[in-house]
Amino acid sequence: MCGIVGYTGYAHAANILLDGLERLEYRGYDSAGICVSDGNAGHPLKAIRVKGRLQALRDLTDNGSSVEGTSGIGHTRWATHGEPTVENAHPHLSGGRVAVVHNGIIENYMELRETLKARGYTFQSETDTETIAHLLDYYDKGDPLDAIVRTVMHLRGSFALGILFSDRPGEVYGVRRDSPLIAASSENGNFIASDVPAILQYTRNVTYLDNMEIVCLKPDGISFYNMDGEPIEKTFTTVSWDVEAAEKGGYAHFMLKEIHEQPKAMEDTIRPHIRDGQIVLEELGMTEDEIRSINRIQMVACGSAWHVCMTAKYVMERLAKVPVDVDLASEFRYRNPVLSPGTMLMVVSQSGETADSLAALRYGKDQGMLCLAIVNVVGSSIAREADRVFYTSAGPEIAVATTKAYSTQLAACYMLALHFARVRGTMDEEAYAKHVEALTRLPGQIGEILQGEARMQWLAGKYANTRDAFFIGRGLDYASVLEGALKLKEISYIHAEAYAAGELKHGTISLIEKGSMVLAVATQKDLLEKEVSNIVEVHARGATVLALTMDGNYAMEDEADFTVYIPRTEDVFYPSLVVVPLQLLAYYVSLSRGIDVDKPRNLAKSVTVE
Ligand code: G6P
Repeated sequence: MCGIVGYTGYAHAANILLDGLERLEYRGYDSAGICVSDGNAGHPLKAIRVKGRLQALRDLTDNGSSVEGTSGIGHTRWATHGEPTVENAHPHLSGGRVAVVHNGIIENYMELRETLKARGYTFQSETDTETIAHLLDYYDKGDPLDAIVRTVMHLRGSFALGILFSDRPGEVYGVRRDSPLIAASSENGNFIASDVPAILQYTRNVTYLDNMEIVCLKPDGISFYNMDGEPIEKTFTTVSWDVEAAEKGGYAHFMLKEIHEQPKAMEDTIRPHIRDGQIVLEELGMTEDEIRSINRIQMVACGSAWHVCMTAKYVMERLAKVPVDVDLASEFRYRNPVLSPGTMLMVVSQSGETADSLAALRYGKDQGMLCLAIVNVVGSSIAREADRVFYTSAGPEIAVATTKAYSTQLAACYMLALHFARVRGTMDEEAYAKHVEALTRLPGQIGEILQGEARMQWLAGKYANTRDAFFIGRGLDYASVLEGALKLKEISYIHAEAYAAGELKHGTISLIEKGSMVLAVATQKDLLEKEVSNIVEVHARGATVLALTMDGNYAMEDEADFTVYIPRTEDVFYPSLVVVPLQLLAYYVSLSRGIDVDKPRNLAKSVTVE
């Protein structure tokens, strides 16, 4: 995820910025840059930027010492809009008068770009951030606060900004909405940063900006303002975390942090694509004719991304009435598949580098298929080679076991299915509107489920010593339990298998005995009775059953030993809600078994070999 550091004070700024950025390296980034004011009012600001590692920035600046000045801003970028290149790296400038670093996503940047072009601004990058630099310049009439207020009023989306104005040497400004920003003070100067680790080596005295608050750093003090430009008071606290705890935002593990980041990651993935109650996928670059000409979809992926495909099959077929086949990428590439004309290949991958998924994509391209990729890492191999790309906005994922990337991949599939359904006329307006509305509620509902974390922790205690766990579900719930079982086995080393509940009686039920653990997911209205019969079957054979079902389905308590309720949504969206308790369960089981949750044995985050 992008990182921000800003400093003004009495020391050499470039060194401090580089050190601060280094402390944010663990978050992942693909380019970096700094901008330091030379202290002379009106001197044009210049940015120094590199693609790749921070070391390149150190090499370019003689470890920072060749850059004169005591105030500046720095950034590590994780690409979202535009590939990782020097031009797209931050800081972004407007004519040398304003420099900006930005975390977050500006949803209306395309409109803003057009407006600014009409006002005579030219763009050097493909980023959403550059629009902010030009807007600030446009509104800057000598009063930085006023320029910031006017600018942020025009921004839709999330942002944490660090800003320099060339005619205000020694001053660094910051403002935020839905992306974190802190301010920190020390005897040697003052700081802004996106995250605590960036400043820990200089100070522990920090305050957290709230949404729509502005901060102005000067060497000898920090001031805060609201959107009316009125001064406000902020309370500073002393951070007690060590660096390791600070990197995880205070969570014990990256996996837990990333589980908790899901509402935000979902919001960031969904919100930019919703306008006036409609799904808008203009960046995908697919024409309506192209969408209508598809008569079959072939999906391929590995691991959890394959589970996303299993879910997408049900959703796409139900909403858009397009037949969908799903293959493991490692199977697809070798089975000489028969691909009829009009079949679109869809590859789902967080990293965009998984060897089998990439090979499957290349195979499809060789066959002349139109290839669409759902990818998290901008500019990755799969993203570059696919014809069309839908980027998820999960940000970098560090824990090996995927959580937030999986959730955002689901969100991408939902949006594609709804968009295809509208274009192909397979959904009436009322149902479409209901689904879009339900989609926008998912991030909040995931937040609600996370509030019930303690119960999952308690339940995990009951499962911690089990040898085998059986996950069962029907329809979309079957797709969800595939992911639930994988989560448990990969980080707890408990043997866990997922079964389509209807298949139990064809073999697996012979394994069920007194004390067997069964996790049953039951959210699909039309399949509820049948799923309950399966629960009764395993219960009668002595299994302990944990059921996940929707709010209000209290009858489940008659059949299951424990019941976890999840908020109601449209049937097709339950996988997004069901997965959260399953992730928490796996996490806490792993924790209680003393396993290295973030780095389970034998597994890699990105599998770039066969
Ligand atoms: C590895 C990871 C999984 C991931 C799979 C596919 O096995 O541990 O979490 O689902 O690779 O990775 P991708 O980057 O293609 O989504």
